[in-house]
Amino acid sequence: MRKEFYNTLRLVAWGRELKREHLLTLLQADDEEERDLFSLADSIRDRYVGDKVHLRGIIEFSNHCRQDCLYCGLRRGNTWLARYRLEPGEILAIARRAAGLGYGTLVLQSGEDNWYSTQTLAELVYRIKQELDVAITLSVGERERADYKLWREAGADRYLMKHETADPYLFTSLRPGTTLAGRVQGLRWLRELGYQVGSGNMVGLPGQTPETLVDDLLLLRELDVEMAGIGPFIPNGQTPLADAPGGTAALTLRVLAVARLVLPWAHLPATTALGSIDAEGRQKALNCGANVVMPNVTPARYRERYQIYPNKICLQEEPDHCRGCVEGWVQALGREVATGHGHSPKAPFRNPRLPEKAIPG
Ligand code: SAM
Ligand code: SF4
Ligand code: FES
Repeated sequence: MRKEFYNTLRLVAWGRELKREHLLTLLQADDEEERDLFSLADSIRDRYVGDKVHLRGIIEFSNHCRQDCLYCGLRRGNTWLARYRLEPGEILAIARRAAGLGYGTLVLQSGEDNWYSTQTLAELVYRIKQELDVAITLSVGERERADYKLWREAGADRYLMKHETADPYLFTSLRPGTTLAGRVQGLRWLRELGYQVGSGNMVGLPGQTPETLVDDLLLLRELDVEMAGIGPFIPNGQTPLADAPGGTAALTLRVLAVARLVLPWAHLPATTALGSIDAEGRQKALNCGANVVMPNVTPARYRERYQIYPNKICLQEEPDHCRGCVEGWVQALGREVATGHGHSPKAPFRNPRLPEKAIPG
């Protein structure tokens, strides 16, 4: 038991801002310290964002991607992958079905696929918001500020774009042709445009150190994100990182718990990636700071082809099945699934006003 570790937990209890060296101390907890870290993260989660678990239904609408990220199965260089893209009408039908299952938020996610023009996605967002009582998160990668602006005006509430790693050199080596500065600029634009901003990072990337993970947490705090997705890197056999070791569930849970101390108001998902490397991963995450689950609502026939990493869970299941499954295990943990949109509890978003309708008709 280290004095330094418990002094750091005391700082959290006193509401003091943690510095770089404190975060490093927390990340290097031993087993006994880890239990206390998880328990503090769990009570901070309860105090700030409550006991309810928010569900976000994710629609993976295209696996085409113009980027070549070394870690991802959707990278353009992966010629093994059979590609698909859903027509807006089909995405709308999936959205209807998901809303019928009680989802208050839908996440529209894809590779960076410019087949969907700015206008096409704006119209899709607008139609969903007109017809269904749901919040919309877009997660379609890096685009121009004008694109983000139009989508916001069309009614998009949130945008999810993980910074992936706060090490600028590692970032560019893993995401050729792109920069951390560019990604962060995009996140700042999203903030200016009034989105609830989601970012996050992978744990266990090759070349990542404990100091990098501290930088990830400090960047998330600086960006003052409404949501942070923290999941393990899982090596994909069809990528250049096939033989890399990958992140562990243990370290991912630890980073997540520290994230809850650093970002008490944020929505923190128990990620699908964590559930894919540890059958109980999402449950463990809900017990050490997480308060969100993102079940897949993509029809089962497409899921196989959105394997950004191998052994992704829920590949054979249809949306109705996952909805019931998640509700069951959330309740088994003594928690309850939230209803409603599940907006950020941070002040400007508590009673969000719909943006002006930009698209007539
Ligand atoms: N194209 C968009 C983007 O990159 O922001 C959204 C889709 S991308 C598939 C969604 C997330 O998948 C990324 O933010 C990344 O963190 C995660 N991801 C990609 N490859 C991964 C891997 N091998 N292991 C774990 N997560 C991975
Ligand atoms: Fe494309 Fe996103 Fe995968 Fe990178 S992480 S290859 S941008 S889908
Ligand atoms: Fe999909 Fe359990 S969440 S089967």
